[in-house]
Amino acid sequence: MNRVAIYPGSFDPITRGHENIIQRALMLFDNVIVAVAHRRTQKKEGLFKIQERVKMIEKAFEGESRVVATEFDGLLVDYARKMEARIIIRGLRAVSDFEYEFQMALMNRHLSPEIETIFLAPAEQYSYLSASFIREIGSLGGSVREFVNPNVHEALQRKFGPLA
Ligand code: PNS
Repeated sequence: MNRVAIYPGSFDPITRGHENIIQRALMLFDNVIVAVAHRRTQKKEGLFKIQERVKMIEKAFEGESRVVATEFDGLLVDYARKMEARIIIRGLRAVSDFEYEFQMALMNRHLSPEIETIFLAPAEQYSYLSASFIREIGSLGGSVREFVNPNVHEALQRKFGPLA
């Protein structure tokens, strides 16, 4: 039986930290579904359109057939069930992430007790990295090259112009 995990998030855009979590998940599972969420409760669209984010994830894992990038709307647990994934992967960077992640894991368990959440820690050099920092630093023309793959870097430069 294939062990399938789902790694949900906003991925606006995918960072080296996300990629690092996906690589780690690939050591534990046969297939990893990277699922970009439509955030109905958020008014703003985000920096990149959902489809653009999915494309960037696909590009980042072009040679890796075990990674599938998708988008989903509605409850994560419903989507996980539909995709026959019993494991949700979330990255934990620091203690500050813990409270929100713990609440979300327990709420998802309440909604769907058969689905388990597993937390993975990224490599230390990405422990202070977030997509929101990438968006902010990029919008201000700063250097983010080491924190995103070259394709994402190009996409950021198309949005914001040349970055340091
Ligand atoms: O990268 P993010 O923004 O922290 O990811 C949060 C995400 C998308 C995983 C979460 O908001 C989510 O699962 N949204 C889908 C709707 C849902 O199931 N909400 C209930 C969560 S307890």
